[in-house]
Amino acid sequence: MSNKEKLLELLARTKAADLPLKESATNLVFGKGNPEAEILFIGEAPGKNEDLKGIPFVGAAGKELDKLLNGIGLTIDDVYIANILKYRPPNNRDPNEDEIKAHTPYLVEQIKTIKPKVICTLGNFSTKFVLAGFKVDGMKNIPGITGLHGKPRHMTVSDFSFTVIPLYHPAAMLYKRALAETMEKDFKIVKKHIGGTNKKRTLLDY
Ligand code: URA
Repeated sequence: MSNKEKLLELLARTKAADLPLKESATNLVFGKGNPEAEILFIGEAPGKNEDLKGIPFVGAAGKELDKLLNGIGLTIDDVYIANILKYRPPNNRDPNEDEIKAHTPYLVEQIKTIKPKVICTLGNFSTKFVLAGFKVDGMKNIPGITGLHGKPRHMTVSDFSFTVIPLYHPAAMLYKRALAETMEKDFKIVKKHIGGTNKKRTLLDY
């Protein structure tokens, strides 16, 4: 089975799952991009626009992310993007521990299907989750993004090896413009860690 087929099968299982926040959300927001990507971005949770469209990073934060990707010569065809939470929390509040515990097994399946060389975590929640070795209970032991951003780290989690590059969340740039320069610098570090792009592979919106 191709990665695309595996992700479609996982999408169907995620849709069928009785996950917290499903009732209050409009749509499941599973993932978008290239199922064969060597680089995976992980955000926090869908916002209003994402909830309405069922696609991650289509709002203001997504525009910032697109610009940063374009700045290092990449587009959505080169990457895959998913979130910690698959449904929008009411009023965009922070995800709670029970929600993260219920939703992340599906994210881990996405990661293990795509097997990216590089995982870029966007903001505190995904950074803590990945650096804790995909374990929600370990997240409290991981420091905040301020001291970690732009510093790649090699990790192996049950036979799967990858480089994690913690990044600020692009939404933070919307209220703190000074972060734009830091983000551009950190994206140059991302560029160094990836090889050629593969634009011929098929795009998958879910
Ligand atoms: N912020 C996120 O973390 N994810 C999205 O999909 C949109 C905004």
